Amino acid sequence: MHCAACGAGGQAVSIAQVLLYNGPALNIPAVICQSCKRLHTMAISIKTPQELEKMRVAGRLAAEVLEMIGPYVQAGVSTGELDRLCHDYIVNVQQAIPAPLNYNGFPKSICTSVNHVVCHGIPSDAKILKKGDIINIDVTVIKDGYHGDTSKMFVIDEVPAHVGRLVEVTKQCLYRAIEIVRPGTRLGDIGHVIQSLAESNHFSVVREYCGHGIGRIFHEDPQVLHFGKPGTGVVLQEGMTFTIEPMLNAGTHHTKLSKSDGWTVTTRDRRLSAQWEHTLAVTSDGVEVLTRRSDEHF
Ligand code: MF3
Ligand code: CO
Ligand code: CO
Repeated sequence: MHCAACGAGGQAVSIAQVLLYNGPALNIPAVICQSCKRLHTMAISIKTPQELEKMRVAGRLAAEVLEMIGPYVQAGVSTGELDRLCHDYIVNVQQAIPAPLNYNGFPKSICTSVNHVVCHGIPSDAKILKKGDIINIDVTVIKDGYHGDTSKMFVIDEVPAHVGRLVEVTKQCLYRAIEIVRPGTRLGDIGHVIQSLAESNHFSVVREYCGHGIGRIFHEDPQVLHFGKPGTGVVLQEGMTFTIEPMLNAGTHHTKLSKSDGWTVTTRDRRLSAQWEHTLAVTSDGVEVLTRRSDEHF
């Protein structure tokens, strides 16, 4: 077994009493890591074939929301209007639930992150898209109890070449990472692929926000960092489902969380940021991109 925090081999303790979320003490498997000496719960869920089928459905619906909204993402539209369109489509057409709505108090159904907003931008009728803007739209739906989580960038009309490069390199970071997902790959390998491509293009990788396990629970173990060292971290196994969602900045990696709304994350230097996200399942010999859109060929 491997330590979830430092990636080293851990000494198994058969069962540990662990207090979870102020709830009752649960008997769950855990290891004490020989290198960092901390107790780690082994909480990464492995999905059954029946659960994977539900994840496929949720993933497809999330992808279809991004396909639906594309034609509306134009100069003159407000991010509040994009939120209403997605909300109504998810609820009325897909008969699904927009996961962000009321999640830890988040007030809207999607996240809309424009220009120097890194992630978790709150849609607003006052925020009107204009020529030269870049926007990430992040959609998570719940269908039959399971989550599908995906985001993509849109550019409004033309953008300068360096802005287009930020958007495209970020997409390639996600795609290169997806290419190495299979049983035996380690999370540090994924982080390393992303960090190498980003930094060789003189962009920085956001540290404070990461990908995550996903299933019945929106954000579950493991944390999927977008930087790291090859040969370290959790070893992927068939049946794991998680997101990869790199955020790249044009300037430094430092971020700032809004004190006024408690959600909006911006770059500290107010330079641009881009993000792309997919939900993935590890298969016996590779990966299934559960949120694949029809313009993508994995
Ligand atoms: N969809 C985001 C993610 O990729 C999380 C949004 S949580 C919200 O994990 F509350 F901000 F909506
Ligand atoms: Co996510
Ligand atoms: Co997301």
